[in-house]
Amino acid sequence: SAVRELTDLEHLEKELAKQLPVKEVHIVRGNADEDESVKSDLGKIAAEAVMSRLKDQMIITVTGGSTVAAVADYLKPKSGVRPLFVPARGGLGTMYEYQASSICVKMAGQMDGEYRLLYVPDAIDWDLHSKVLEEPSVKEVMSKIEQSSLTIHGVGDALTMAKRRNSNAEELKKIQHQQAIGEAFGYYFDENGKTVQRVHSVGMSKERLSNIEHVVTVAGGSSKSKAISAYFKWGKSDVLVIDEALAQKMLSDK
Ligand code: G3H
Repeated sequence: SAVRELTDLEHLEKELAKQLPVKEVHIVRGNADEDESVKSDLGKIAAEAVMSRLKDQMIITVTGGSTVAAVADYLKPKSGVRPLFVPARGGLGTMYEYQASSICVKMAGQMDGEYRLLYVPDAIDWDLHSKVLEEPSVKEVMSKIEQSSLTIHGVGDALTMAKRRNSNAEELKKIQHQQAIGEAFGYYFDENGKTVQRVHSVGMSKERLSNIEHVVTVAGGSSKSKAISAYFKWGKSDVLVIDEALAQKMLSDK
């Protein structure tokens, strides 16, 4: 008969799509915690999800991190379509390749599109925050974020991300005390999806995120299991791209 058996990965995809508030789930083999090459596979599938949703003049917002960086490698030009890539976050940590702005440059290069940069550190003081928002180049990026209809983002384990932000001992203690589990878009949230802390910065807000038409979430590694489960209680996602180890851990943690 023409009826094809579902593969084990397809079963996992179906199971997760049933349990999570998401339209599409794609799972790749392996565990990104143990094998860096899994990030390339995640990037490839996430790039396909982006390509299939492209519209001309589309404004695509992008976060930082090693997983989102892998998506850039697989974007290709599409005739008649010139997307604009805009960083959803300011700068974070010391790795040039993992900055939202750097990833936008690369993605625009791959697709013959345009980009904007955000020259602001990801974490700044509140008094500086309002001043920075008055800066014309920042204002322009903020208005593009408002018009974005697709976002590509990663999710991190809360403590890992706090360390990447060079948070001091007191801040790290606070994050543990508040039982922060996950981090996305500069927000730390607990296992119930409650925001426990927000990095004071310019960029995509949770309110804005909830109105974005296509949210592509990409993450790998079983160590992100709790963070991703919590993300689905906290924010919006339309397409989830993860690896097998993470998918299995999410299902067994339930
Ligand atoms: O917000 C979370 C980070 O983008 C995740 O970074 O992909 O390097 O783990 P990563």
